[in-house]
Amino acid sequence: RKRVVVLISGRGSNMKALIEAARNPAYPAQIVGVISNRSNAAGLDFAARAGIPTRVITKSDHPDSASQDAALERALTEFGAELICLAGYMRLLTQSFVSHWSGRMINIHPSLLPLFKGLHPHQQALDAGVRLHGCSVHFVTFEMDSGPIIAQAAVPVLSGDTEDSLSARTLAAEHKLYPLALQLLAEGKVRMDGDKAVFRTAESNTAAML
Ligand code: GAR
Repeated sequence: RKRVVVLISGRGSNMKALIEAARNPAYPAQIVGVISNRSNAAGLDFAARAGIPTRVITKSDHPDSASQDAALERALTEFGAELICLAGYMRLLTQSFVSHWSGRMINIHPSLLPLFKGLHPHQQALDAGVRLHGCSVHFVTFEMDSGPIIAQAAVPVLSGDTEDSLSARTLAAEHKLYPLALQLLAEGKVRMDGDKAVFRTAESNTAAML
């Protein structure tokens, strides 16, 4: 089973979905650590209660982003991390960190990328008037919410939707999609090749679409 560390900043509901999926011994990944850049992230409590070691590595404890990422690397080495899942980790990683983990670090973003990157993707979708919204899991590259897409799930935009109702519907899809995408990566069924995700078999390609 691949050793996975999850990086969070807050609530940690996607982290929780990954921890719960990995409780199944047949799942190809295990969550060996959780790291937050905020000491008050609610997700830290859930991880601790689940018996998963946690670390807090904040901006305020470091002079710059490079030294913060160096501390992150040390923690990842201690955990023996093979793969990284960003789960609501709201901070840009340095270029050298990103290139070191290239092809081994994934992120979830609540939009059908490449639409609506960054903050308030649900409000962006409502403002654009799209009738389909959703979430994407992608390999992490230096540019925020970019990088080769591994899997996406769509949800409808319903009349009367607010940012809250649309984000709740999308979050439920995120909790199904992220474990599926991590499974594909941990099983070696998808890899990053330049600016594309390449799937090993047509079968796993189908599985990438919910
Ligand atoms: C999730 O909706 C995740 O997709 C989003 O933050 C939320 C974190 O919630 N990530 C981004 O917007 C990345 N740009 P969670 O802490 O409950 O998983």
